[in-house]
Amino acid sequence: MTALHHRRPEESDHIRVVGAIPVWWGMPPEAAPSRLLPRLFFQHFANTSILVEDDGGQLAAFLIGFRSASRPHTAYIHFVGVAPGLQRRGVARDLYERFFAMMREGGCTRVDAITGPINRRSQSFHRALGFTLGGDTEIEGVLAYLDYDGPGEHRVTFSRSL
Ligand SMILES: CC(C)(COP(=O)(O)OP(=O)(O)OC[C@H]1O[C@@H](n2cnc3c(N)ncnc32)[C@H](O)[C@@H]1OP(=O)(O)O)[C@@H](O)C(=O)NCCC(=O)NCCS
Repeated sequence: MTALHHRRPEESDHIRVVGAIPVWWGMPPEAAPSRLLPRLFFQHFANTSILVEDDGGQLAAFLIGFRSASRPHTAYIHFVGVAPGLQRRGVARDLYERFFAMMREGGCTRVDAITGPINRRSQSFHRALGFTLGGDTEIEGVLAYLDYDGPGEHRVTFSRSL
């Protein structure tokens, strides 16, 4: 496997991360969640986020996370993605462990994230990392919160202590 290099994302990385999302998520561009990752995350949350490149400088993975502004003991992971050719090799687990360590140092005791009911890969991944999954309604075969993010925007919640 190629050596991986971790660094803070920069604003100029936004365009290629957004460009990777449909491919990495395996969805057509109009259905992919790219709009949930606007440029502001690369402007204002870069110091708690991580971007990974391979030896050739190609985008390999990223994690966009931050410490909650209103719940200072809570960390939040907004987005994580790993290039298809590098999945199931522990890349995301390693990114999460790096983020957990950073957040513990800052005094966080809990980390949260969410996904859609359809994203079984994300649910399996978070379960494997010790997150508790939350939901109150069976939607598309899993427990999720109905209309969590607005009408029709159902979400499975993830939470674990740090
Ligand atoms: C979800 C995702 C980030 C996982 O990244 P990854 O680097 O492949 O994950 P890891 O190799 O660190 O996996 C750690 C554990 O999670 C579980 N896991 C990860 N991917 C899984 C999958 N596709 N199916 C079932 N379990 C999975 C496994 O238990 C795995 O351990 P193992 O490989 O030893 O069995 C990756 O599949 C991805 O980028 N998917 C597309 C984008 C996405 O859905 N992001 C999350 C929503 S924001």
